[in-house]
Amino acid sequence: MWIEILCFVLTLAVIYVCSKLGHSRTLAAIPGPPGNPLTSFLIDYLDLQGCKTRHVASLHKKYGPVVCIASKEVSLSSHSAVPKIYTIQSEKTSFYDMFIVFNERTHFTMINTQEHKNRRRPFASLYAALTVSSGETEILMDTMTMKFIDALAKQIPLEKKLYELISPSILDFMTAFIYGNLGATAALESSQDNQINDDLKAPGRRLLFFAFNQFPVLAEWATIAINKLGLSNHFPTRTYPQLFSHGWHTWQSFDQKISRSEKLDATTSASVIAQAHDSGITGTALAAECADQLLAALIALNHVLISALWVLSQPSQHSIQSRLHDELRALPPSALDSAGNPSIQTCSKLPYLNAVMKETLRLYPPFSGAQPRRFRSDVVIDGYVIPAGTSVSMCMYAMHRNPEVFPEPERFWPERWLDVSEGRMREMERYFWPFSAGDRRCTGEQ
Ligand code: HEM
Repeated sequence: MWIEILCFVLTLAVIYVCSKLGHSRTLAAIPGPPGNPLTSFLIDYLDLQGCKTRHVASLHKKYGPVVCIASKEVSLSSHSAVPKIYTIQSEKTSFYDMFIVFNERTHFTMINTQEHKNRRRPFASLYAALTVSSGETEILMDTMTMKFIDALAKQIPLEKKLYELISPSILDFMTAFIYGNLGATAALESSQDNQINDDLKAPGRRLLFFAFNQFPVLAEWATIAINKLGLSNHFPTRTYPQLFSHGWHTWQSFDQKISRSEKLDATTSASVIAQAHDSGITGTALAAECADQLLAALIALNHVLISALWVLSQPSQHSIQSRLHDELRALPPSALDSAGNPSIQTCSKLPYLNAVMKETLRLYPPFSGAQPRRFRSDVVIDGYVIPAGTSVSMCMYAMHRNPEVFPEPERFWPERWLDVSEGRMREMERYFWPFSAGDRRCTGEQ
């Protein structure tokens, strides 16, 4: 009896090792450093150090558009691979499990395609350009713009760093947009409210990702132990604790109001939480969606705005600043609102401003790291067999810096987006995808 059990276990082990070797052998046919198909330690370590993306881009320079970057991980950088990877046939990998909020999968972390489609639909229309630039949202944007300008005026000479005004302004706008008055922060005025922004800078997050990638079981056990012993203040076991705590408490207040059939004020009625609730998303699923979207928006908007201001502040870019000023000064009074600021509709039509933002998104996209997907069966992409279960992703960093598509790729040069032929623009746009692609492209793109 024992011998039979032993034989059975040994057979399973042999099958497992053979399948692993088979997988590695298939990956070994893909260009890349020879040791890569065997381990993921190096790539996870580089991620921990914050240099994975640039390392992968350097591998593309050396080995071409398809590279095996680790055991079970392949990166691509040709435009033809984008629609093949970000398709309905692929699914998100376990990488996204790290972003599960309140034990719930949001439309960002859902694996099942139909479930994702149903959940995403109401949010996609909420974030559509027309909705965002009308009614309560427009009033909110105007109010926040004025608050920001007032705060800036008080800072003359600019003692505080601009960053210290931008992050709280984004937080105040996004919390009001997502939660209405129930969860709107006043971070521009209150340093306590502004503490949510500290979550974005916490360095422990990378270590947590590394531990969960390399030692998933150990990391899981350590998390349980730390929480049980009440040591989570010293060893953070959750990412973005303040942001999620704010989201949880705001959802609780909202839920109480709804269950008591209390009337919501105009800003709260127009907010994402109320509108999503009206379209049938309730309970902790609603709490998780809102907190997750707040996080996505804070990371992305801070990154893009601060990158744009940083690059424009360089002495070498003064001519770009001047051209932007000229474009704004040339606006007729009819394009301005009552406070003398250009409306959102006006801004979306300013060619130079848009070229500056596009160039910022090309060089400094907020999510330039891998957006991994996997397939349930083997697929052929760009002539290489990618075994089922392999994590495949595009290298945005390498695509956005392809010198054949973007000459002088490191140069911040908004003019490259202006006065170009249709064919040239099409070519650049094929390589430009800061918002990802396919059904799971950014919901907040507009
Ligand atoms: C310049 C600003 C932004 C950029 C460049 C950006 C970029 C991206 C990218 C690349 C993805 C795909 C991530 C992946 O598949 O791993 C994504 C997804 C997503 N983004 Fe954004 N984002 C921006 C702003 C926002 C804002 C303001 C929101 C507000 C709600 C938002 C909400 C989301 C959501 C919910 C998803 C998941 C979509 C899905 O899986 O169906 N993003 N974004």
